[in-house]
Amino acid sequence: MADESQKWVLLVTARTPTNIAVIKYWGKRDEKLILPVNDSISVTLDPDHLCTTTTVAVSPTFDHDRMWLNGKEISLSGGRFQSCLRELRSRAGDVEDKEKGIKISKEDWGKLHIHIASYNNFPTAAGLASSAAGLACFVFSLAKLMNVNEDQSKLSAIARQGSGSACRSLYGGFVKWIMGKEENGSDSVAVQLADEKHWDELVIIVAVVSSRQKETSSTSGMRETVETSLLLQHRAKEVVPKRILKMEEAIRNRDFASFAQLTCADSNQFHAVCLDTSPPIFYMNDTSHRQKITYFRIISLVEKWNRAEGTPQVAYTFDAGPNAVMIAHNRKVAGLLLQRLLYHFPPNTDADLSSYIVGDKSILQDAGLEGLKDVEALPPPPEIKDNIPSQKSRGDVSYFICTRPGKGPVYVSDESHALLNPETGLPK
Ligand code: ADE
Repeated sequence: MADESQKWVLLVTARTPTNIAVIKYWGKRDEKLILPVNDSISVTLDPDHLCTTTTVAVSPTFDHDRMWLNGKEISLSGGRFQSCLRELRSRAGDVEDKEKGIKISKEDWGKLHIHIASYNNFPTAAGLASSAAGLACFVFSLAKLMNVNEDQSKLSAIARQGSGSACRSLYGGFVKWIMGKEENGSDSVAVQLADEKHWDELVIIVAVVSSRQKETSSTSGMRETVETSLLLQHRAKEVVPKRILKMEEAIRNRDFASFAQLTCADSNQFHAVCLDTSPPIFYMNDTSHRQKITYFRIISLVEKWNRAEGTPQVAYTFDAGPNAVMIAHNRKVAGLLLQRLLYHFPPNTDADLSSYIVGDKSILQDAGLEGLKDVEALPPPPEIKDNIPSQKSRGDVSYFICTRPGKGPVYVSDESHALLNPETGLPK
């Protein structure tokens, strides 16, 4: 190891996407190792619009492990961070940076301390799977810093111990988390089904409904479901195994009708399982009545439109929170979806469209909506018979994010993007 008097700091920065499950993970068979009761499938979202950036650093001058999330120091003492750190440290390798005169042997990692700074480019408490991107980035960046010589699937099993759905954020495109059979969880890993270019015409629109923290934590909710819901047993044993095969086929063949039918059905069954829990879990119970209405309005809007067209145009899926994720077949459909969303969920009068619809704004341009001054003047969609004012939910959606299937984690080599100061190892 380098002379302790040396004041070197070694940094790694990485960027990791979030993901949305189209076949849901709900229910653990092992709480500590985070082993699920069924396989799940997700779409990775474009990190240009939703991602976590994390810088990790090691230095002989650090006297304990520290972490900052979105600029605020947080505790690393939680079991989940500790599980990931323990797994990574036990696999750490020798590291040498000749330019900086740094030499760390693998035995040193048990004594050295690390600093971690992480930043989510979307609201952390909005229920947008920030812990998935966050824990994936934590593991991915530390594995590089510590020269952990494991493939991506082994890293996914480490990230899984931080946050179940984090394992799926280690790949881009379409990803399956295999539940595995082993008691030690070694075969509960993520695999890539197809990369983000395989089906790049899909457009994903996220309706951010609330930035309040959800009341029921997923962990306790899942535990209560496993203990009390018979529907979960049926779902895990009978429904999901068949659905996984069909979803893999739909993705392979870019069969949108099947993809949309499976996605909506699985979201609805996940919410049915929550209701089948005793006491029932109402995932919108922390939010207002109006926000519950948003959930039902979006489902009804999409179901009516799909039925009117005779074939699905859009899929919807809701996680454990009020935000809606809609997946449109292509850019043309996405433009028509935005028109409908603006009709049903107009912004508050003072909000302008450029801050109400963020992310890939080219969808707005293509749909001829850019610069639209009077949202009120939008005609009702044809599947709505009358322009009834009560169908509008003004101000219920905070904003929409337009995005697409995206790539997996990447290292950021440009040190100017690091979140820690390269001299001190403290947040910039
Ligand atoms: N939870 C939410 N965001 C996170 C992040 N970026 N890193 C670790 N945990 C998180």
